[in-house]
Amino acid sequence: MALQAASLLPAAVTVHKEGKSNACFKDVGFFGLPVSDHVRAECKSSLVFRRRELQVRPIRAQTATTGPAIDQAAPEEKKTLRKGSVIITGASSGLGLATAKALAETGKWHVIMACRNFLKAEKAAKSVGIPKENYTIMHLDLASLESVRQFADNFRRSGRPLDVLVCNAAVYLPTAKEPSFTAEGFELSVGTNHLGHFLLSRLLLDDLKQSDYPSKRLIIVGSITGNTNTLAGNVPPKANLGDLRGLSGGLNGINNSVMIDGGDFDGAKAYKDSKVCNMLTMQEFHRRFHEETGICFASLYPGCIATTGLFREHIPLFRLLFPPFQKYITKGYVSEEEAGKRLAQVVSDPSLTKSGVYWSWNKNSASFENQLSKEASDAEKARKLWEVSEKLVGLA
Ligand SMILES: NC(=O)c1ccc[n+]([C@@H]2O[C@H](COP(=O)([O-])OP(=O)(O)OC[C@H]3O[C@@H](n4cnc5c(N)ncnc54)[C@H](OP(=O)(O)O)[C@@H]3O)[C@@H](O)[C@H]2O)c1
Repeated sequence: MALQAASLLPAAVTVHKEGKSNACFKDVGFFGLPVSDHVRAECKSSLVFRRRELQVRPIRAQTATTGPAIDQAAPEEKKTLRKGSVIITGASSGLGLATAKALAETGKWHVIMACRNFLKAEKAAKSVGIPKENYTIMHLDLASLESVRQFADNFRRSGRPLDVLVCNAAVYLPTAKEPSFTAEGFELSVGTNHLGHFLLSRLLLDDLKQSDYPSKRLIIVGSITGNTNTLAGNVPPKANLGDLRGLSGGLNGINNSVMIDGGDFDGAKAYKDSKVCNMLTMQEFHRRFHEETGICFASLYPGCIATTGLFREHIPLFRLLFPPFQKYITKGYVSEEEAGKRLAQVVSDPSLTKSGVYWSWNKNSASFENQLSKEASDAEKARKLWEVSEKLVGLA
């Protein structure tokens, strides 16, 4: 358990893409694991590209930025900018809920909360005071490809535009001894976190393309735990997709492994593997569609949000100690509110329109482009993952 706990700790290795900046390390341990010396080099603020000017015409995001730019808009431009429309999966708790709140309370976004439990989502929206006129709840169970298809149909029938899609929902089953499965028989963590979102993103891509919003975006939430270029990502069980033989075999445990790399079931690893898939998928979307569509594809690590429901399957002692440990020992804790603001930035900030980027935040809460691990940035693996995944979800 200690190892799994440590695997979720907020370690960050930050290397400027152009290799100009210093590295920024924050490494931690838990439950007797060593807490290494903190080696912190200042992450240069030049990593953060902030643009103050408003640009309302769509521009290829690789070169310049456009975005809702609501706060910076000149008065007459403000009048013409309609409310943005964003789908957030798993908005009934944690990061998704905090992001929905952060966006909806600006009054400039309508949030479609795509959730599997309607009542829970409704209660959650009310409990954090999201204005009624700024959200709609729509049913989506990512553990059922049929539900994903129904959601896409229902959304289309609603007549709403789609400006931003946020693939945020996830399950994490670190203590499971046996695998669980989605409706179509895929191991649950990868089936939900990756395959469900993969199908959803593919089905809604056309809707995003049709958006006339200044900046249209597809965001898939990643994690440091899938990145083996970080200390946290190096704590066993490490993410490793291998040659995708388990995934190619259907991930169903019948004639094949339930793990992507073909190994024995490990719930913590399955989650980490699914996060590698999320980050690879974002980059493959970028390579295939950014140029043609102008859609900005991004991923992020929001920080260690130790209080969320993600840890609900962990043993009670872990759930008790993890948040204070993060707050007072490692100081790597990020509140749900702060993490929600970070993801809301990736949705709407005019300075974060570069496509193909994995965003992170430094200790001053300034965003920067982070470096993905070798595996999470392997273009050949991303291509293969894409091809295998589209077969599994019935798109090829
Ligand atoms: N917490 C962290 O420290 C941390 C760190 C890095 C990345 N992340 C990422 O942040 C994202 C959000 O996680 P969180 O920490 O906010 O956890 P969370 O509070 O447990 O939120 C997960 C959400 O996913 C939903 N969900 C689970 N299975 C689903 C399904 N089959 N269909 C539809 N929705 C489903 C949950 O719905 P219910 O409410 O119905 O259960 C919940 O709303 C995840 O992608 C996670 O990997 C979290």
